[in-house]
Amino acid sequence: MITRAMLVLSVVFAQPFAQGPSTSNGPWTAPSAADVLKDPMASNPKAVEKGAKVFTSLCWTCHGMRGIGDGPNASALRKRPADLGMPSVQSQSNGALYWKITQGRAEMASYEQVLSREDRWAVVHYLRTLAHE
Ligand code: HEC
Repeated sequence: MITRAMLVLSVVFAQPFAQGPSTSNGPWTAPSAADVLKDPMASNPKAVEKGAKVFTSLCWTCHGMRGIGDGPNASALRKRPADLGMPSVQSQSNGALYWKITQGRAEMASYEQVLSREDRWAVVHYLRTLAHE
């Protein structure tokens, strides 16, 4: 007999295998639904400043102060993070970048519990200032 509790448990345990952050390889693509997420910081003049504080306290250790992937912890990573200023990253929508920061993958942790929704959007605005050719 399959009880409701067993079904719930099987869903809970199947999840890491279905979408395990540490088992993902290859290109990291956000779902298209992320592109239309609503940005609460869209017209906030303090977004970049707020995002800079987040980046220079939590993200630079791996991504480096300029976001090029040369932070002090970068060489210890199995997969070196991409240069966040590159067109391949900058061409992604704000929502896609927000989604990646929220979800995390492999050695990049999920920031869902660490940062407020506003702070996660704010850091996306800051990432735009790192853009280069
Ligand atoms: C422990 C090291 C580490 C820290 C800290 C970290 N990241 Fe990452 N980040 C990574 C790695 C490694 C990847 C590549 C993950 C992959 O492709 O599987 C990555 C990928 C990304 C990407 C996706 C880039 C792409 O190729 O599309 C974004 C955006 C990003 N990080 C932003 C941030 C922000 C913002 C913070 C701070 C809130 C942060 N990261 C903190 C290691 C880190």
